[in-house]
Amino acid sequence: MVKQLDKIVIRRPDDWHLHLRDGNLLKLVLPYSSSIYNRAIVMPNLISPIIDIKSATHYRNFILSNIPQGHIFTPLMTCYLTEYSNPNEIEEGFNSGIFTAVKIYPAFSTTNSFYGINNIKNINKVLERLQKIQMPLSMHCEVTDINIDIFDREARFIEDIIHPLRNKFPELKIIMEHISTKEAVEYVESSDDKVGATITPHHLILNRNDLLVNGIKPHFYCFPIIKSKIHQTALRKAISNGSSKFFLGTDSAPHFAYRKESSCGCAGIFNTPTALSIYATVFEELNAIRYFESFCSENGPRFYNLPINEDKITLIRRPWKIKNIINSSTYSLVTFLEGRTLNWFVKN
Ligand code: NCD
Ligand code: ZN
Repeated sequence: MVKQLDKIVIRRPDDWHLHLRDGNLLKLVLPYSSSIYNRAIVMPNLISPIIDIKSATHYRNFILSNIPQGHIFTPLMTCYLTEYSNPNEIEEGFNSGIFTAVKIYPAFSTTNSFYGINNIKNINKVLERLQKIQMPLSMHCEVTDINIDIFDREARFIEDIIHPLRNKFPELKIIMEHISTKEAVEYVESSDDKVGATITPHHLILNRNDLLVNGIKPHFYCFPIIKSKIHQTALRKAISNGSSKFFLGTDSAPHFAYRKESSCGCAGIFNTPTALSIYATVFEELNAIRYFESFCSENGPRFYNLPINEDKITLIRRPWKIKNIINSSTYSLVTFLEGRTLNWFVKN
C-alpha cells in the first residue's frame, strides 16, 4: 500500500487572477489572500474600472494600506482596456511598474464589463504596442453575441478572436483566463510559449450537474459558466500532465449573498479561503501531487517573467469544515464549498 502524505511543503504560491473589490469588501477579503499568497494579479473591473495610471496608483495604495501587519503581499495591477485606451500611457505604466498586465473584457461578458471591448479591431494600436514591449495581455475569453449559446462562448472566442489575433500578433503574450473547456486546453497545449492559461479551483472540482441538478446553486454560478464533465476532465488532465503553461488563478470574485441568491443573481465565486486546499485535493485525486508546486508557485511567475518566491507554505492533512467569513442578518459572504469538509489545511 502507498503511504499517504500527511504534509505538503511548497514555495509560497501567487494568485494570477483575483478580484479584491473596493472599500469595506476589500478590507474583509484581502487578509485571506495576503495570508497565503505572496502576490496577486488584481483584476481592474471595479464599478469605476482601473483604466489609467492615476486610478491604478490610487487603488494600489488602498490595497497596500489594508494589508494586515505581518503579511507580505504585493498587488500586481492590471489596466482595464477600453476602446479609448492610450498605448503611451499603458507603456509608461508598464515601464514604471504600476501595471503588470492589461486586461481585455469583451463588453457585457461579465461583472462590470460595460466599458470593455466591442470590436477587437478598434484596439490594434494598443495590441501592437503590447507585442512590442512584451507586456502580458490577460483575456476574458468569451464571445458575447446573444445568439451564441452560453456554453459555447469560450470555444467560439478561440475561433473568432484568438486565432485571428495570434495570426496578426504572433509575438503577443496572452493569458487565457479561467479556462473552462477542452477546446481551450487543446488550444493552449498546441500553442507556443507566448500563450498560457489560468485554471480556477471551481472549474476543476465542479461540472454543470453540480450547478444545476437537485436545485440551482447560485454560489456555483460564475463566468465562464461551469461546463459538462467532458470539459472538467480535460482541465484536470491538463494539470495532471505537469505542463508549464497552466497556472493557479483563483478568480475569487466576492459578491454579497443577497446579490447572488436573487431572481437575477450575479456571477462570481468567493473561494480565497478554500482555493489552495481544493487545488491540493484535486492534484492528489489525480495522483499528480508532484506537479502541485509548479502549478501553484512556478509556472505563473515564469510566464510573467517575475522571480519565483523563496519562502515556503505548508499544507497538512487535517479535516476542516468550511465556514462563511461573515454571516450577519444583513450581509453575508458565502465561501466556496461552505459546509463541506476539506482534508488539506493551509498552515499560515
Ligand atoms: C467576475 C466578477 O464578479 O468580477 N465574475 C466571475 O463570474 N468570474 C468577473 C470575471 O472574471 O469574469
Ligand atoms: Zn475574474
